Amino acid sequence: MALKTLSKEETHAMRKRLIGQSCRLFYSDNPVKIVRARGQYLFDEEGTRYLDCISNVHHVGHCHPRITEAAAAQMDLLNTNTRFLHDNIVLYANRLASTLPRQLCVFYFVNSGSEANDLALRLAQQYTGNEDVVVLDHAYHGHLKSLIDISPYKFRKLTGQKEWVHVAPLPDTYRGLYREDHPDPGQAYADTVRDLIEEVHEKGRKISAFFVESLPSVGGQIILPRGYSPKVAEYVRSAGGVFVADEVQTGFGRLGRHFWAFEQQGEDFCPDIVTMGKPMGNGHPLACVATTEEIAKAFTDNGVEYFNTFGGNPVSCAIGLALLDVMEKEDLRGNATRVGTHLKMLFRKLQSRHHVIGDVRGVGLFLGVELVTDREKKTPATKTADLLVKRLKEKRICVSTDGPWENVIKFKPPMCFSVDDADLVVSCIDGILTDLEQNCPDLEKDNIGRD
Ligand SMILES: Cc1ncc(COP(=O)(O)O)c(C=O)c1O
Repeated sequence: MALKTLSKEETHAMRKRLIGQSCRLFYSDNPVKIVRARGQYLFDEEGTRYLDCISNVHHVGHCHPRITEAAAAQMDLLNTNTRFLHDNIVLYANRLASTLPRQLCVFYFVNSGSEANDLALRLAQQYTGNEDVVVLDHAYHGHLKSLIDISPYKFRKLTGQKEWVHVAPLPDTYRGLYREDHPDPGQAYADTVRDLIEEVHEKGRKISAFFVESLPSVGGQIILPRGYSPKVAEYVRSAGGVFVADEVQTGFGRLGRHFWAFEQQGEDFCPDIVTMGKPMGNGHPLACVATTEEIAKAFTDNGVEYFNTFGGNPVSCAIGLALLDVMEKEDLRGNATRVGTHLKMLFRKLQSRHHVIGDVRGVGLFLGVELVTDREKKTPATKTADLLVKRLKEKRICVSTDGPWENVIKFKPPMCFSVDDADLVVSCIDGILTDLEQNCPDLEKDNIGRD
């Protein structure tokens, strides 16, 4: 039976009436109604095609037929919970294990990045017997209460910082405490964590975990400086804590050469816990925590069952397995490297033509373009970023912004994004920025003097 089709206006009116208004829409002035999608393209109710540069969730492409087939076939056969033996969960865990360092060999399947990070917090606290957590400034680790507490990006706007949460500086070498000209920013930023841990100890408190995105995305697509994570892990472990790598946005080959973004910190670096989510199920709710035998044993030894009704069910795991197959078959990591390198090179060229582009950074198909009004002072060009996003929508290109001032244009499209798509995006941005320079020179006037 076909579902009733609503006009766009009816959908919008019902959405306003029935759905909590804190669940925001993209382009809230004039939202887009998407009715179908394929690959890197979204189609609205009139059949207009939009290029999706936002969705790192629809990792191998929207509605990939191989994923749909795997889901439908398993759905037709069996879907149950993990209290029965089933091949899919063990085969999938085994495939994930082959992508990770040997030590990370125990898996818990859950339904969202938030559930994964909440479980990581429980694992860390149970294993260490400590409570306190160190996080990076501007970080976001999920929407559960436990995670709002460890997400400065959220708690600063809400109830504030809990006494068991400690915030270390974001290791941003573009505009942070130590910049590109510092001889060893990795060590210098790691030492800020060491100092913070000392302060925590002076208060008579103890660290359970250091949580970090392997490439802080909510903070504005920040590349952790070389040597940072191994040093921090050393400090955190010697304080009795564990290192949690949040790979919810960055995992599954998005960076191209590396399957996991933490691998950028060197072959010998291994976190104690890795959390994953968004791209795992290509849109199906599938997420996971990987950890060591020792940490898992401590969690088991508390004698309390961990039961998750939907996590790791046969349909989810069939989808997860199909996604890994598609990635290999279509060489999507190779594509992320090729197209990502091309896109970054084009952005760098654009930077030489448009003064508003202060920095271009990122790896593979996880890029950020930071807009500033003044390259010396690095004043965030938030209004330009906002207008650029709106103008790109008129060109049928969807992009988003991030960073503390929402002035970093973020690119994390489906991994099938092509060189032609990259060329189109850059030529549209070039045209829009040229137009803004000529016709809206006072756009950022209110921002002058802002840090
Ligand atoms: C880095 C990071 N961790 C965790 C989460 C939470 O994931 P979810 O929305 O699937 O609960 C997000 C979501 O945006 C995220 O960006």
